[in-house]
Amino acid sequence: MNIAVYPGSFDPITNGHLDIIRRAAKLYDKVVVGVLTNASKQPMFEKSQRADFIRRSTAALGNVEVAFFEGLLVDFLKKENAKVILKGLRATSDFEYEFQMALVNKQLCPDVETVFLSSSAKYTFLSSSVVREIGRLGGDISMFIPAEILDDVKTAMTAKK
Ligand code: COA
Repeated sequence: MNIAVYPGSFDPITNGHLDIIRRAAKLYDKVVVGVLTNASKQPMFEKSQRADFIRRSTAALGNVEVAFFEGLLVDFLKKENAKVILKGLRATSDFEYEFQMALVNKQLCPDVETVFLSSSAKYTFLSSSVVREIGRLGGDISMFIPAEILDDVKTAMTAKK
C-alpha cells in the first residue's frame, strides 16, 4: 500500500490544506494527516479540536486518516508504514525552508521521499495564521475555511477573543 503523510499544525485546517489533501487522495492509497504542535508556534486551537476539524472536512474522502504525532516526522512515517512526506508549495518563498526540511528528513531516513504538490493558484496566499488574523479582527473567513466546519471555527474564534 502506498501511504503518504501530510504533516502540519493545521491551526485550523484551511481550504488550501484541503485542496492538497483531496488531490493527494487521488494519488495515494492512503493519506495520513499528521497533526502536531509545532514547538515554535502557540496554537489557537487544541490539538484534539484541530484533528476534529480535519476529520469533518475530509469525511467524504474514504482514504484519509488523521493522527497525532510528536517528535520526529520520520519516526511517525515509520509508525504509519509510509514512505512519502507530502507538502504543499505555495510560492518560491516556501521553497528554501521546505527544501532544507526535505534534505534533513532524507538524511535522517534515506528511504523517505518528500513529494511537493504545487498549491492551486487561488490558495497561494493562504495560511492558518492569515485566517486566524482575519477572524480575530472580525473579517469574513468563509472563503478560506471548509464549509463543514465554518460555523464551529467562527464560534471557537469568537470565544477566544
Ligand atoms: N495551504 C494553506 N496553508 C498552507 C499550505 C497550503 N497548501 N501549506 C502550508 N500552509 C501554511 C500552514 O498552515 C502554516 O501556517 P501558519 O504558519 O500560519 O501556521 C504555514 O503555511 C507553514 O506550514 P508548515 O511549514 O508546514 O508548518 P506547520 O507548523 O504546519 O508544520 C511540520 C511543520 C510539522 C511539517 C514540521 O515542524 C515538522 O516536520 N516537525 C516534526 C519535527 C521534525 O521531524 N523536524 C525535522 C527535523 S529538524
